[in-house]
Formats: sequence, C-alpha cells, structure tokens
Amino acid sequence: MANPTAFLREEYEKLVEGSLDWKLWVLEGPSAPHTVVNGREMIMLCSNNYLNLTNHPKVKEAAKRAIDRYGAGSGSVRPIAGNMEIHEELELRIARFKRCEAALVYSAGFTANEGLIPQLVDKGDVIISDELNHGSIIDGVRLTKADRMIYGHSDAGELEKALKEARKAEYRRILITTDGVFSMDGDLAPVDEIVELAEEYGAITYVDDAHGEGVLGDGGRGIASHFGVEGRVDIEMGTFSKAFGVMGGYVAGSLDLRLFALNKSRSWLLSASHSPAVTAACVAAIEVLETEPQWVRKLWENTNYFKQELKSLGFDTGISVTPITPVIVGESSVAKRLSERLFGMGIFALPIVFPMVARDKARIRTIMSAGLTREDLDTSLEAFEKAGRELKII
Ligand SMILES: Cc1ncc(COP(=O)(O)O)c(C=O)c1O
Repeated sequence: MANPTAFLREEYEKLVEGSLDWKLWVLEGPSAPHTVVNGREMIMLCSNNYLNLTNHPKVKEAAKRAIDRYGAGSGSVRPIAGNMEIHEELELRIARFKRCEAALVYSAGFTANEGLIPQLVDKGDVIISDELNHGSIIDGVRLTKADRMIYGHSDAGELEKALKEARKAEYRRILITTDGVFSMDGDLAPVDEIVELAEEYGAITYVDDAHGEGVLGDGGRGIASHFGVEGRVDIEMGTFSKAFGVMGGYVAGSLDLRLFALNKSRSWLLSASHSPAVTAACVAAIEVLETEPQWVRKLWENTNYFKQELKSLGFDTGISVTPITPVIVGESSVAKRLSERLFGMGIFALPIVFPMVARDKARIRTIMSAGLTREDLDTSLEAFEKAGRELKII
C-alpha cells in the first residue's frame, strides 16, 4: 500500500529545493531591541515591536495581576462562558482610543479578517481589493460568495473604474478592502481618496490598520487619523500583535458593526476568548499609548534617522514612508547573503524573497523600534555599510 502521507515529505522537499522553506530562528529571551537569537546577541531589526511595549513594565505587570485575579485561561468562547469583564473593558478602551462607537476583539488580526469579511458580503455583492492586500484579507475574500475585483496597488483611478463597473452591474453591496500600511514596502494606501470614492459610490470601507496603529496619526491612532478621515472608515481592523506588543485582533466602528460581527463571525463565535493575561496586557498597552506619547515620537525620530542614513550610504529603500524600511537588493541570493553577513555582525534582519515580493525585488526588511538607541542604529548602519560594500550592493 502506498503511504497516504508521503506527500508531506515530497512537498516539503520541493520547498527546500526552491529555497522556499522557512527555517526557524529561536529567541532565547524576550522580543526586545537587544536579544539572543540562536545563541548570539543581536540588535533586533525585524520585529513588529515598534514601541517596545512587549517589555513595558506596566504592560507586563498588568498581565501578572490579571493571572492572580482571573486565572490562566478564560474557559470558553465568549458567547458561552468566556466573556469576562476585562474583555468588555478592552473593547471600551479600543473604542475610546479609536474615537468610535464600539469594538470587538478577536483572537488575532488574521481571524478578524478571515471571520468578518465573508459575513459582510454574499452572492449578489462585490468585494474590491488592492492587489497587494495581506494574506488574511485574501483568505477572508476567498470565503465569500461575492464577486471579486482586484485593483492595481494603491491606484485610486483603477479603484474608481471598478466602482463604476460595480455600480453598472447593480450589486447589492460593494465592499472596498485595503491594508493601510503595506508591510513589504512600508507604503500607505491612499485612504483619504478611497474614503471619498466610497462615499461617492455608496461602498463600504474596510481598512486593515495592523501596521498603522501605534505608528501613524495623532498619538498612534492609526491611518484614518493620519489622513484626517477618522469616523469615515466604516470598519477599521487592527491587531495587538505589532505596536501594542501583545496579541489579538479587533474591529472598530459602529455599535451595529460590533453586534453584527459578534453574532456572525465564525472565527469569533467558535474560538475561545483570550486569556486574562493577554487581555489585561492589551488594556495596559492602550493606556501606555494614551499617556506616554514619547514612544511614538522616538519611533519616528529613529525611523527618520535610519532611513536617511541608509539612503545616504547608497541603498535602495524603495517607496517606504513608515518605520518599515526595505533594503532592496534584487536577487534572492544577494538578500540571503546580506542577511547572513549582518547576522555575523550581530544584526538580526531577515531577507524577504519571492514569492512574498517580485523575483527581482528581494530585500532585507528592517522594522524600526522606539527601544533602539542612536548607538544601536549607528552599529547597524556600520554593519549594513560593511556588508553592502563586500557584496557590491553599494
Ligand atoms: C496587514 C496585516 N493584517 C493582519 C495581520 C495579522 O495579524 P495577527 O498577527 O494579529 O494575526 C498582519 C500580520 O502579519 C498584517 O501584517
């Protein structure tokens, strides 16, 4: 009899042959600006821990206190016996922070997109999506019975064309979905233009603000605040796994949205609620953002310095306008060698290669943190310069 699971190894080996397999690095300490990876001290340049809130004493303390008061787990899904007062408190805090009516927390940003998007549209509707949207939006879109249209990356002209077509076809609902910040290039969706178009064509807007909150806008309130369209994006989706330094997804908007989402999203209804420690840490992270504006300021100070210096050294940093700064080198093999050389000099910055980006746009993706000092940045820049010259990138 043939082995029915033989494909597991065969497919894995194909990935290895094409250098498309993931090799896992092991952090032997916290996710912090300085940490130990695979036994070596590193300056961290590829974590989403923008504000270093993973290590903020108030955030850690809140998690410890929550365990003492509420225990280690929630015991159930929210609609049955897993809805604790701290889950409700977190949602009120998010709504206040995002200056909207209500919010709903999901186990992750991924499950928010995957759980809610397919409920918003159905047969007879259409979803219009940026071609470079995150995989969790793509999976959410794949679960709908709605028609789909894809527009060129951040191209408001193409979006309008799609909206015209959608209007002509007399769809019941039109849903526009986009990432706010695109995580491979660090560029922004033109959310102001998208909102204008949506209002003109009667479409619903759904913006994934995973890399925008804690980073962009007034006090890190995100991309809607950055573009001055707060209150005009129908559904703002976010995550606690990046600048907030914890984990968990959410959607924020109207009270109607919250009630709809909690009654309809299968990833919410059928998956246990967050542990008290995680939930309390999220509440504390919002509180830190509201009361300690210095972290967002420091993030941008670091970002502006690092980006400018990389450019002055002659590196191609693409079209980034955020703390995600790619160093585009072209071929995958060069990106991999650059990453290895950096690792050898104590800099943890990983390559991003095809199929995540185009074949000729392989890169090292750096992500800035407010926890890095000027000295750390200069050490990193020296390493980039040395490795860049050795590999004839600059
Ligand atoms: C744009 C975007 N949306 C959603 C997610 C998923 O967020 P989470 O880590 O909370 O599942 C990510 C994380 O990679 C992301 O970059």
